[in-house]
Amino acid sequence: MYEDRIRLATLMDKVMTADRAAALFRDGMTVGMSGFTRAGDAKALPLALVERARRAPLHLTLLTGASLGNDSDGLMANAGVVARRMPFQADAALRRKINTGEVMFIDQHLSETAEQLRSGDLKAVDIAVIEAVAITEDGSIIPTMSVGNTASFAQQAAQVIIEINLAAPLALEGFHDIYVPQARPERAPIPLTSPLQRIGATAIAIDPARIAAIVITDSADSPSNALPPDTETDAIARHVVTFLEGEVAAGRMGPQLLPLQAGIGTIANAVLHGLSASSFRDMTMYSEVLQDSAIALLDSGHLAVASASSITLTAATHERFIANLEQYRDRIVLRPQEISNHPEIVRRLGIIALNTALEFDIYGNVNSTHVGGTHMMNGIGGSGDFARNGQLSIFVSKSVAKDGAISSVVPFAAHVDHTEHDVDVLVTEWGLADLRGLAPRERAPLIIEQCGHPDYRPQLRAYVEQALAGGGQTPHVLEQALAWHARYKREGTMLVK
Ligand code: COA
Repeated sequence: MYEDRIRLATLMDKVMTADRAAALFRDGMTVGMSGFTRAGDAKALPLALVERARRAPLHLTLLTGASLGNDSDGLMANAGVVARRMPFQADAALRRKINTGEVMFIDQHLSETAEQLRSGDLKAVDIAVIEAVAITEDGSIIPTMSVGNTASFAQQAAQVIIEINLAAPLALEGFHDIYVPQARPERAPIPLTSPLQRIGATAIAIDPARIAAIVITDSADSPSNALPPDTETDAIARHVVTFLEGEVAAGRMGPQLLPLQAGIGTIANAVLHGLSASSFRDMTMYSEVLQDSAIALLDSGHLAVASASSITLTAATHERFIANLEQYRDRIVLRPQEISNHPEIVRRLGIIALNTALEFDIYGNVNSTHVGGTHMMNGIGGSGDFARNGQLSIFVSKSVAKDGAISSVVPFAAHVDHTEHDVDVLVTEWGLADLRGLAPRERAPLIIEQCGHPDYRPQLRAYVEQALAGGGQTPHVLEQALAWHARYKREGTMLVK
């Protein structure tokens, strides 16, 4: 049984139930799990850990690549299994626990977690739980639909538990490129100079003696929950396409553009879909997650090749993708997230970074994570890795949220993930503000008139007028800077009635 999946015969006696494997965990351990934006996550161990916690206290520090699927994050949070969590999540139940202070959440740049583990800044991983397509003849692990931080977890953990998922086709073997940077400070440059280049191995090499358990599963990743494009996201996409056409016309890039990165969620996915209405051909992607839009662009020929750390698709696209894997074999590479998001490579390739803001201010500071300045939404994810280091950093957002009660363009961002120094272009459904080469005093009117919702523009103009009276490089009325957020809390709207 499973000979094609467990090719090192001596490991056969490690096959056991998830419940038995869960007995290896001890209270207070640090656990590294595979999984990145709902792709390639362990399916059985999270549920077994929830059961295990019913019998005896189990409070873990849980590290992953990014968010988990199958409601695992929420189930483990509600069972009290997760005491500390990093570097990213996107689960409503876990979000509640974070915002009540019951779970300590460390919101990190996704390229940094593996680096911090390697350098000993974070406590070492005790147990790694990794979903795999198969284990090779020498005990190496072939990941499934994501790589994330799996290679670093597997190499560091004292014990490794592998979930072999029979629902993940064997044909996924060969899609991965596993390269783990050397230790600092004598590290050689990462030898990657184009998006599809392979610089590593197709599987994660580990000492098989550390494989403590193998659990067999048979269930698909949770489908993407990104919503389809709508009127506003279509308009945002048109502004982005027109802008990029202008960049080509000005000779700053060729018709294949520079390698693209697109963030998670509904808006970034919809904007990328919009590129299928463009005349760009043979584009490349160097991103962290491929959503439905990337597969559509590959299918239409707009996109030639794509590199990422995970593939997160809706059910229909996933089915089509898996059924036609051979079409994508030479066009997609899956890498560890510290390579997909590595500042050195993002800077070298000159990425066009396209990410989503919850809100941004009149000077270009972007809040992508904290609702109202205090409450965690998902986390910064990889947006900072790309925004700071890319050639062009574009942030998109709808101009209002909650039926107009919240303006996404505000006098002062209530939390800043991306400072004005990391932001080149802002876009809403109303227009696009190109901030390159502009001083704060020049940025404010452009952002207001191009991106602000018409209902909020008079208020924004009035704020700037008052701020200018006080002078400064970046004029503000400090007493009023967060008044919009306070008004929303008090009156349920940012709009002055
Ligand atoms: N204040 C409060 N809530 C806001 C808001 C604001 N200024 N702007 C948007 N929202 C709410 C929306 O109303 C929506 O709420 P709902 O879930 O109750 O409907 C929610 O935020 C998500 O917004 P949506 O319009 O559906 O956008 P999205 O799915 O594209 O997600 C982010 C947007 C910012 C939450 C998401 O892109 C994210 O988490 N980004 C940070 C991480 C990141 O960029 N990673 C990418 C690197 S690859």
